[in-house]
Amino acid sequence: MALNIDGMIGNSPALLEVYKILEKVAPTDSTVLITGESGTGKELLVRALHKNSKRREKPFVPINCGAIPRELLESELFGHEKGAFTHAIRSRPGRFELADGGTIFLDEIGEMDLSLQVKILRALQEKEIERVGGTVTKKVDVRVVAATNRDLEVEVAEGRFREDLFYRLNVIPMQLPPLRERGDDILILAEYFLRSFCFEKDRPKMQVSPQAKAMLVSYSWPGNVRELENFMERLSILCEGQKVEPADLPEKIQRAAGMPEPERVQVIVQSAGFVWPELKHLRDNGQGLKEFLDEVEERLLTEALKEAGGVKNQAAEILGIKRTTLIEKLKKRNLLEA
Ligand SMILES: Nc1ncnc2c1ncn2[C@@H]1O[C@H](COP(=O)(O)OP(=O)(O)OP(=O)(O)O)[C@@H](O)[C@H]1O
Ligand SMILES: [Mg+2]
Repeated sequence: MALNIDGMIGNSPALLEVYKILEKVAPTDSTVLITGESGTGKELLVRALHKNSKRREKPFVPINCGAIPRELLESELFGHEKGAFTHAIRSRPGRFELADGGTIFLDEIGEMDLSLQVKILRALQEKEIERVGGTVTKKVDVRVVAATNRDLEVEVAEGRFREDLFYRLNVIPMQLPPLRERGDDILILAEYFLRSFCFEKDRPKMQVSPQAKAMLVSYSWPGNVRELENFMERLSILCEGQKVEPADLPEKIQRAAGMPEPERVQVIVQSAGFVWPELKHLRDNGQGLKEFLDEVEERLLTEALKEAGGVKNQAAEILGIKRTTLIEKLKKRNLLEA
């Protein structure tokens, strides 16, 4: 059967590695523990696991262990009997029972407190659960997939996560790489999101300029795919032209790419005809990286000197470097008049 990764976009080596494990592990009933920074697509991956399993026709039941207060979480997971606590006016099955035959997704498992961890371990080992306030145990046939953005080994070392549960969950570990390690996937995703948001908002297709692309790729994306997705939505609403230029990108991305202040960027890009360097330029000029950067540096040194009327202190200040550094650079280029 072909792997169904619907919704998961990207073909970087880091992601292909994930697909490879997904293909092997999905058809089995093994417990899987997915780790990855926030927004890397853990939930999407768990859904893909379920869709590629023999349980695909059966329920997929997610539960966010970090979002439900401790007192409620136990009854959410295992259900309760009538009268088990004040508001238990009738008996209710928990998510484990609802997931019978299918998959339960314990999201943010790292947030679960120790006393509940014992009960999860028991459910995993014995494949049976007991409702809160109940007296009988019930067999359940559930595949457990858990996810966390914490480092569970650290949590174990610090006594916040049970070691036995960690090993029981970590039968098949899968790690989703951060977006910044996925190279051109950033652009594939950016274009995909931009296309779908434009379509959704009935606006003509937008394109990303090569300069802006280079900046997207070099940004670190701490919020990963979620951050990129939200940012593309913002562009589809706020960007005026059809082409996304560096000046349209948020300041933090500009800053990370080492661009000057936003007002200046506009001037450089639009009026002075600044063209973001591409490998093509190096090839056309028969230059290596060093020669190219030297040439750029020399132009800026000369301009700063001119602007400072030849006063080196001032030129150094304009460039944001030390006077001695400036002199050294000028010397190397024989630009230092006696
Ligand atoms: N490879 C991908 N292709 C397309 N969309 C993706 C991809 N990875 C993530 N997304 C999208 O990014 C958003 C965040 O993904 P998801 O909720 O799966 O992340 P997460 O790792 O569970 O994050 P958190 O730790 O914050 O819960 C979702 O809208 C999801 O659809
Ligand atoms: Mg999630």
